[in-house]
Amino acid sequence: GRVLLLYSGGLDTSVMLKWIQDEYEAEVVALTVELGQPGEDYDVVKGKALNLGAIEAIVHDARQEFADEYLIPAIKANVNYGDGYPAFTSLGRPLIAKLAVEYARKHGCDTIAHGCTGKGNDQVRIEATVATLAPELKVIAPVRQWKMGRDEEIAYANEHGIPVKGGSEGVAPYSIDDNLWGRSSEGRWIEDLTHAPDDDVFQLVTRPELAPDESEIVTITFEQGVPVALNGETLGIVELIEKAAELGMKHGVGILDHIEDRIVGLKVRDIYEVPAAAIILPAHKELERLTGTIHQNQFKPGLDQKWAYLVYAGLWWEPLRLDLQAYIDHVNLRVTGTIGMKLYKGSARVVTRESPNAVYDASLASFAESGGLFAQDASPGFIELWSLQSRLAWQMRERDGAND
Ligand code: ARG
Ligand code: SIN
Repeated sequence: GRVLLLYSGGLDTSVMLKWIQDEYEAEVVALTVELGQPGEDYDVVKGKALNLGAIEAIVHDARQEFADEYLIPAIKANVNYGDGYPAFTSLGRPLIAKLAVEYARKHGCDTIAHGCTGKGNDQVRIEATVATLAPELKVIAPVRQWKMGRDEEIAYANEHGIPVKGGSEGVAPYSIDDNLWGRSSEGRWIEDLTHAPDDDVFQLVTRPELAPDESEIVTITFEQGVPVALNGETLGIVELIEKAAELGMKHGVGILDHIEDRIVGLKVRDIYEVPAAAIILPAHKELERLTGTIHQNQFKPGLDQKWAYLVYAGLWWEPLRLDLQAYIDHVNLRVTGTIGMKLYKGSARVVTRESPNAVYDASLASFAESGGLFAQDASPGFIELWSLQSRLAWQMRERDGAND
């Protein structure tokens, strides 16, 4: 048979590339999906796959599709799982798996192999996608199967001439995943909840204490919920996210030390670096609140939370996600304007707002002005009726001695 392997170039999937050939006597087609991982050299990854015996090594640049079809919907949904995780890995997996299906079909593979463990979310996201889009394809997850510990894996790698990087002097590397929207680290001391982050885990974001003493304001302009310009310069979404990330990294913005409820029942700690998301998401949320009514603003967060949960939980293709998306997109039709964010030593704070659709009238809200549309003499009558039920209920409790 022939197996399509989702190949990252790291230790696990490199060992896998050999192991599948030996164990299954199968040919391997290696697919590496580029989602904007900073600093990756794809020629090296490709060369490595071919060296390890792949009959074909494909590198697919999916950055634009990722940003257009996954990140823009996520921005409109103010994506947030748990307390601040912008779900970058969760958003990447359905696209990676969709591309795996396409290339598997194209290259006559009957099986897709991935490098996820049996304890994580990623296996669920990838396999749920494959099972949904291509029920005829088999999936194998060698890490769940081969029962190699880390040491055996390194021994296997040495034996087969597979380079082991980052794990020098007997120290296992962090488990990393990254793309345009963020970077996660897991494993090692991160599993000890009493251990405050060691500096070496931060590979993107400047530690806030080392960030510049001067603050900087960045403006993000949105059209119908989509970021279209940064500091007044019109940019494509990929470049805009990259530029926002640069500014966030410089100012120490977007570090998150997060305890997370995985869908397989485990509670796990992640260290996240999300410099672009930490600027763009609060800016979007602010503009959405400014252009929405009180009723819309109370209703949408519940839908956003459900949206984020479905995506986190591997159900990108679930109809409810698209139903929610329709509502979310409709709200975003009015989300046009510019938000200024002040970046300073780890914080990103909204400081200016501008929108032709703001449900805001400075003269109505002003302390300085009277008259106009707002009739202050109507307020006493409003207060009387607004509080009617509450007053009645209070009186009945007085009668019954229930207020003491
Ligand atoms: N906890 C995050 C999530 O579930 C990040 C997972 C990182 N994945 C990885 N293979 N290192 O979305
Ligand atoms: C893994 O276990 O493969 C990575 C972490 C995750 O999927 O949640």
